[in-house]
Amino acid sequence: MGMKQQPHKTTISIRYSTILTLALLLTSAFLFISPLMHVQEPLLFPSEQTSFSGDLRDANFPWNKLCFGPTFEKLKLAVFSKTWPIGAAPGGMERHASTLYHALAARGHEIHVFTVPSDRRPHSDIHEGNLHVYFAANDHGSVNCSLAFEIFNKIGTDVAFDYVHTESVSLPYWRAKMLPHVAVTWHGIWYEIMHSKLFEELFSNPNGVLPSPTTELQEAMPRLIDEIKFFSSYKQHICISNSAGEVLIDIYQLPQRNVHVILNGVDSTKFVHNPEAGIRFRRRYGIPENASLVMGVAGRLVRDKGHPLLHEAFSLIRKRHPGLCLVVAGSGPWRRRYAELGSSVKVLGALESSQLSEFYNAIDVFVNPTLRPQGLDLTLIEAMHCGKPVLTPNYPSIVGTVVVNEEFGYTFSPNVKSFVEALELVIKDGPKLLNQKGLACKEYALSMFTATKMASAYERFFLCMKNTRYCQYPLPTDC
Ligand SMILES: *[C@@H]1O[C@H](CO)[C@@H](O)[C@H](O)[C@H]1NC(C)=O
Ligand SMILES: *[C@@H]1O[C@H](CO)[C@@H](O)[C@H](O)[C@H]1NC(C)=O
Repeated sequence: MGMKQQPHKTTISIRYSTILTLALLLTSAFLFISPLMHVQEPLLFPSEQTSFSGDLRDANFPWNKLCFGPTFEKLKLAVFSKTWPIGAAPGGMERHASTLYHALAARGHEIHVFTVPSDRRPHSDIHEGNLHVYFAANDHGSVNCSLAFEIFNKIGTDVAFDYVHTESVSLPYWRAKMLPHVAVTWHGIWYEIMHSKLFEELFSNPNGVLPSPTTELQEAMPRLIDEIKFFSSYKQHICISNSAGEVLIDIYQLPQRNVHVILNGVDSTKFVHNPEAGIRFRRRYGIPENASLVMGVAGRLVRDKGHPLLHEAFSLIRKRHPGLCLVVAGSGPWRRRYAELGSSVKVLGALESSQLSEFYNAIDVFVNPTLRPQGLDLTLIEAMHCGKPVLTPNYPSIVGTVVVNEEFGYTFSPNVKSFVEALELVIKDGPKLLNQKGLACKEYALSMFTATKMASAYERFFLCMKNTRYCQYPLPTDC
């Protein structure tokens, strides 16, 4: 869907030409042409200032696209999260939860989180200003739902919670069913997991030599059916990609008005475009100065992150293009295999989170070969914030939300042939064009994927759930 949309520049030139046409033709022509122009403008187009006005619950694009003004109304929210990050470098869902709730508490809302520490060790509850985190663990270190609910009921006694939010099934559906005001954010749904299992099977067992299909694959459909049945126990649904939202409406058959898209954001002050930092990083790690193109990959070096795919594709392409350099940041079993590829690969090991921004700045293009399309990969977004284009499989969650047009990078089907073709295209374009694409990425990321945008979208969402007055957009206070 995404790749069919018009490139950015064309849309802008259409807009200029619209203005010119309007200036020339003025009245009657205006009435005829403007509806046509409107039809041509894709609904989900990211970098367009949207002209949406109306009820936010009817918006079929990410709320991040809109600009919400300040509010004086304060909310009291309950949050259920599987874990809460302790210490450095938390991953995926817990990092998202921590970023979001720190931001909402900083905006003056009273936030109560029911969870367990990510290191599964005993910790005392956290009370930082408006942010309260209660650890309710059972013997195994996961959330004891009865205990969490006891605390939840106690805190909601004097002043009731305005809304309850759960990160995926942290609040199980049989309990969610009893709460009238509950919203869930889905970080990955079985329909998407099934999609990725299919690709993994096709990639790792192309000739059917392994016993096939795996039990996991056989169990996927029953699990999907199960999921579709219990999803309706949750009242409001928030998805982190356009494609997941479409699946919830079209396949899971949830009411359109109860499905909303709010994209994840990253701290845009931590991930910044800084070419000098990139040059320093290249020197420090001895990345060859005469490299014709520097590609980077980051994360755990494991099978389902697509490393067998990248390893094979890169082994092929470096023979044709000896000046290529691949920089690998991360640790895991595939580290050794990359090291065996010799001087065209630099294996750096795991980087501190503070070094990640420099790493992105040091490369020409960021590669994410993942075989797991569920959710939205934060590394793609981080690289874009640092002004780097991306090369990644063409999963619906990615082409529909992140690499929504060719200006932001390259996509491929998750097989070696298609990957190599995309790599050839990257090499043909070269560092200069990649740099241009990177700047477009940065602009797009700043317009969609910042922690501030995410927090303000969630804030407005909960306000709208509490009081429908806030469902109107724009309000006089909006920007
Ligand atoms: C969970 O909490 C309840 C209520 O405090 C307690 O009775 C129960 O033993 C706990 N269960 C586990 C497995 O820790
Ligand atoms: C880059 O420089 C090194 C050493 O200076 C040399 O061995 C290598 O062949 C050069 N690579 C290319 C692609 O020119």
